Amino acid sequence: MYQERVLSGMRPTGRLHLGHYHGVLRNWVRLQSEYPCLFFVADWHALTTDYDEPDKIEDNVWDMLIDWLAAGVDPSQATLFIQSRIPEHAELFLLLSMMTPLAWLERVPTYKDQQEKLSHKDLTTYGFLGYPLLQAADILIYRAGRVPVGEDQVPHVEFTREIARRFNHLYGREPGFEDKVREAVKKLGRKRARLYEELRTRYQQEGDEAALEQAHALLGETQSLSLGDRERLFGHLEGGGKLILVEPGALLTEAARMPGLDGQKMSKSYGNAIALREDPESVRAKIRTMQTDPARVRLTDPGDPGKCPVWQFHLVYSPDDTRAWVDSGCRSAGIGCLECKQPVIDAVLREQAPMHERAQTYLDDPSLLRAIVADGCERARRLAQETLRDVREAMGLHYT
Ligand code: TRP
Ligand code: SF4
Repeated sequence: MYQERVLSGMRPTGRLHLGHYHGVLRNWVRLQSEYPCLFFVADWHALTTDYDEPDKIEDNVWDMLIDWLAAGVDPSQATLFIQSRIPEHAELFLLLSMMTPLAWLERVPTYKDQQEKLSHKDLTTYGFLGYPLLQAADILIYRAGRVPVGEDQVPHVEFTREIARRFNHLYGREPGFEDKVREAVKKLGRKRARLYEELRTRYQQEGDEAALEQAHALLGETQSLSLGDRERLFGHLEGGGKLILVEPGALLTEAARMPGLDGQKMSKSYGNAIALREDPESVRAKIRTMQTDPARVRLTDPGDPGKCPVWQFHLVYSPDDTRAWVDSGCRSAGIGCLECKQPVIDAVLREQAPMHERAQTYLDDPSLLRAIVADGCERARRLAQETLRDVREAMGLHYT
């Protein structure tokens, strides 16, 4: 069956922490066995804000890739690559920029928000304004159907859909479209071709949505179709031109709110994070010195888990019986805070042990990581080139 591609990227901002693991990476690990997945390091996106200090990006790229692998992202299932190694992203970005209204970029909410947040930097740049368009190119060049992102990125996926629609509208009707459709229908084989035409008629004349769905399924399971022909037949069904670019949907990562050591959301900039591959001694020390309910000054003072960041960790890590033990022990002053923290320490260390182990392989032999990325880049590049060929052709740039 034809499976939607899943694509996501992350800017190389340095070592990842448990918030990234619970918020993003665990989700990727689940998706990689369900869909063809592409995960990439958005190093050009890092440059849009860090153009004045590019030297730290390189280390961050490799550290982050090791973190992904440590978390269980599996290169034999997912394709891992680095954005800047696939120059096709830049070409698509350029071509899309020709038809992108400035106002669309100016009204993307992250544009003004980030400028205000990073007010110490001059972000009145062409590159920063273009951030969402570069992201759109990242997504569209792989014809990704699903983009797992956090809530803050949803406007960028929305923007990408608008760009795809505008592109298809402007350039979708390729010269000779009707002939190419006829050829593609033939390739379906007699029986399927007849069914396809019948379903199309039912949809177009009677607005029968079920027929449309059935036709989609039919095309989905026809292995022999090239991607181009498949898109033509999809376009023909709905009476449009060829859908050259695919409109993606956001796959909203459920907000697994990983608390930081102080109870706020875990974030490197708040200084409340535990790194994914933090040294076990340091994990112990950080959790032992964590804030607890300020009302519990002495062991004999009862506490309220609702006012304690440690409780937030129990919500992430502890089974019901441990939580019940914490709740009653805290409220009755029956347990001490260090005692209460021990199951959290154990659970975090248990979670991290396999991560350290997986990472060690790549730390011992960096060439392994280089090989994985080289292989991923090669695979990604072939897919990107396929889309770009269609884009160039649609825009009339295929002269030789
Ligand atoms: N902007 C995304 C972030 O900051 C990173 C990103 C770049 C991305 N290109 C992408 C995410 C394409 C998903 C798809 O998190
Ligand atoms: Fe927090 Fe546990 Fe201490 Fe209660 S006993 S204040 S939940 S650390």
